[in-house]
Amino acid sequence: MIDNRIDNHEWVRETRFGRWFLSTQTWVKYVLDVAIKDFAALSASDNKKIGTILDAGCGQGSAFNILNEHFKPAQIIGLDVDSELLEIAKDAAEGCPCEVTIKHQKASDTDIPDNSVDMIFCHQLLHHTKNQMGALLEFKRILAPDGVLLVGESCESFIHSLPVKLLFKHPDLTQKDATGYIDLVREAGFVFQDKDIQKTSPWWSRPFLGVFDKWIKREIAATEILIVARKG
Ligand SMILES: C[S@@+](CC[C@H](N)C(=O)[O-])C[C@H]1O[C@@H](n2cnc3c(N)ncnc32)[C@H](O)[C@@H]1O
Repeated sequence: MIDNRIDNHEWVRETRFGRWFLSTQTWVKYVLDVAIKDFAALSASDNKKIGTILDAGCGQGSAFNILNEHFKPAQIIGLDVDSELLEIAKDAAEGCPCEVTIKHQKASDTDIPDNSVDMIFCHQLLHHTKNQMGALLEFKRILAPDGVLLVGESCESFIHSLPVKLLFKHPDLTQKDATGYIDLVREAGFVFQDKDIQKTSPWWSRPFLGVFDKWIKREIAATEILIVARKG
């Protein structure tokens, strides 16, 4: 078992509840599956054969099978700082039809060669790390020139909502709204257009799970953002 203390300057470990929630079918069906389907639609024009997908912040490996189903890669690299979650990810890797390699590394400092990854799936990682720019610059280094970065994030209005604050744990100062994430990914040197961005407010991210929406007069800010970015 690798000592997780080496990483704690840039990493906030999820609560016990959060770790359980991310293992449920609710998370897989309503969050992961939906995000990967939407990413597949947003990046559909590419239709390129994919050699390697990096699942950055793969956690328990719940996305391996879904990524394989939608993108049919030759291999997936599952990378995370949390060695306990990676023990579970190893089982998910065994059940995945394509080859999966597990790495216990920080997103900002990997041993993955330059320009070697065709797709980076970075789902719900940035709001968990204090070193967001470090991770994005590392993604830029390892992404192939014609590769694609898929960033999926929960925005600060949701992360700072009371239920999320009570049940989950995140770094306080690095949370961003949708525009903040768009600016951050651009500042790291990635390029994308409006058509490569999707902003949503799914029911599970709305106040009281959206039950009182019809009485709320003001517009609800986007709580989720997907960005399909390429190297500039
Ligand atoms: C909310 S979970 C998302 C897990 C998975 N991507 C999903 O969508 O189901 C965030 C994951 O990012 C990992 N993580 C946080 N900071 C990291 C970093 N700097 N480098 C690598 N992994 C990190 C955490 O350990 C956790 O597994």
